[in-house]
Amino acid sequence: MAKKIRVGIIGVGNCFSGLIQGIEYYKKNRTKEPIGLMHPKIGQYSFEDIEFVSAFDVGVNKIGQTLDKAVFASPNLVKWTKLPKSKVIVRESPVLDGVGFYVENRIKPLAKPTPIGILEKQIIAEIKKSKTEILVNYLPVGSQKATEFWAEIALKTGCAFVNCLPAFIASKENWAKRFKDKRIPIIGDDIKGQIGATIVHRVLARLCDDRGATIDKTYQINVGGNTDFLNMLERTRLESKKISKTQAVTSQISKDIHADKVYIGPSDFIPFLGNTKLAFIRIEGRMFADIPYSIELRLDVDDKSNSAGVVIDAIRCARLALDRKLGGYQEVSSYFMKHPLVQETDSDAKQIVEDFIKN
Ligand SMILES: NC(=O)c1ccc[n+]([C@@H]2O[C@H](COP(=O)([O-])OP(=O)(O)OC[C@H]3O[C@@H](n4cnc5c(N)ncnc54)[C@H](O)[C@@H]3O)[C@@H](O)[C@H]2O)c1
Repeated sequence: MAKKIRVGIIGVGNCFSGLIQGIEYYKKNRTKEPIGLMHPKIGQYSFEDIEFVSAFDVGVNKIGQTLDKAVFASPNLVKWTKLPKSKVIVRESPVLDGVGFYVENRIKPLAKPTPIGILEKQIIAEIKKSKTEILVNYLPVGSQKATEFWAEIALKTGCAFVNCLPAFIASKENWAKRFKDKRIPIIGDDIKGQIGATIVHRVLARLCDDRGATIDKTYQINVGGNTDFLNMLERTRLESKKISKTQAVTSQISKDIHADKVYIGPSDFIPFLGNTKLAFIRIEGRMFADIPYSIELRLDVDDKSNSAGVVIDAIRCARLALDRKLGGYQEVSSYFMKHPLVQETDSDAKQIVEDFIKN
């Protein structure tokens, strides 16, 4: 029988809620075809082998709660299935730059936070006590300092690090080297949704490019109604998200496209959309005999199903890397993440994942 994969969660928000409820859904429906899983098994590991053994957040209504309750606490919105009782208690994390201006009235940190030096010791003790071996980082966009704090914790505790947001760690040579020197695997940065705007836009752009057409202008507008989108109204927190989303697409086009002719980014918060994310994609260019063409596309998708469908594989690949004692940046990042250290086409990236799984 495969060993369990002991995962710690940083940020008990909507993405994590989707991941844990999705795993529970598959457990409850064992006899049915597992629709929506990219890999029912990765190596010897099935979705059932993932166990959440520690969790950290800043929300006063989540800290001290058991995980099965905290995932349904406000402002989380995912309500797919009931969870069994959990013994894992959500512990305090330092706020640092985690809570932005627009979400301040929805995410309320403790009135008297523990001083960071003491908190760091408590966190390390919790990770050791719970035998956490992989940390999954689900902090809000713009949490560069908080992400660096947690990357240091991974380095100090020997936990593999799966970085789901665009705070650049795995894709930075200096951080990747630190993980390599300590022989700790890192997968990042910024999760690429299963059928998200990024993958759809990338594949379309690549198709036009492969078939000899130019791409003269392109945009991707994204709207949603959860705290992730609310937080992203704060433009100063968005810089890395825009870089991540833009490079994910422009890396697939062989000819240079002027920065003024590409707009890709989260664009607005529409409260009643909840976790539904809408993306509007347009590509304009020229094909045979310099004749113009254009493509318009509207994507309507559940944002959290989208992220969980990929993180469930990234976690299992992190575990395989631990089993094989592979430290540093993991190349599977180019399939799972928008901003890996090295961009590949999605077909090459998929092959990298399949080869990695086969060892
Ligand atoms: N499809 C997707 O959902 C998708 C795709 C790519 C990237 N991401 C990224 O994943 C991240 C998580 O998304 P989400 O929808 O779960 O966001 P969310 O706002 O629902 O959850 C964030 C959680 O982090 C907590 N938090 C804030 N500061 C913290 C700190 N310093 N320490 C610990 N916890 C802290 C909040 O209380 C909240 O529970 C975001 O950065 C998002 O952009 C999501």
